[in-house]
Amino acid sequence: TGALRGVVALDGPSGTGKTTVARKLAGRLSAGYLDTGAMYRVITLAVLRSGTDPADPDAVGHLAHDVEFSIGTDPERPEIGLGGQNVAAEIRGPEVTGAVSAVSAVPQVRELLVARQRRIIADVLAETGGIVVEGRDIGTTVAPESPLKIYLTASAEVRAARRSTQDSAAGRRSSVADARESVQRRDRLDSSRAASPLRAAEDAVPVDTSELSVDQVIVALSELACRRGLLA
Ligand code: DC
Repeated sequence: TGALRGVVALDGPSGTGKTTVARKLAGRLSAGYLDTGAMYRVITLAVLRSGTDPADPDAVGHLAHDVEFSIGTDPERPEIGLGGQNVAAEIRGPEVTGAVSAVSAVPQVRELLVARQRRIIADVLAETGGIVVEGRDIGTTVAPESPLKIYLTASAEVRAARRSTQDSAAGRRSSVADARESVQRRDRLDSSRAASPLRAAEDAVPVDTSELSVDQVIVALSELACRRGLLA
């Protein structure tokens, strides 16, 4: 396989293996990697740390403008910094996960982050020529010109099991039932918000990962990129 040219947009709900797949695909195709969910999470962490009510859209929108964070695009070392600290682990914790849907529904937050995402994508394209971007609205809003859009899905059962395994691996106690509830709650909120809700772009290729291993998904996506003529 050669190196990726252009943007691969990888969207879908949580628990579909998006993050693992996006990182591995970027690594395999010698491309950059952008985790847009991490950006909504780092704003959420800043909201919580400042004592701002995540359910107050005006306060959240106001605060978001002052948050200074950094985000890396190396698939081998995805770092996200807030206040000079790497907060990659903290942004996956239950407090942030519980509040991120409310924060990401605030239009000012989305405007701010989408603009930053487009700048990062342009920088990486200029530098390395290719980037895999994962999120909820990449194919519809952030990079609608992307030559390859993937919409990952998986059954609710499989997604809850994966999330629960991830939580346990990170040292957080979690039952499959809790994980199922949390995954479903977030899907509902992310799909029903007014500002660029979670949905597949019309020209996205749906890939159901329920019965596939990560490596099988990577092979399928690499083949799609190759057939589209995106590998140099
Ligand atoms: O992919 P993730 O679970 O880290 O995303 C966290 C939250 O951020 C998710 O519940 C919805 C929001 N999000 C979004 O609104 N738009 C994106 N492009 C990425 C994430």
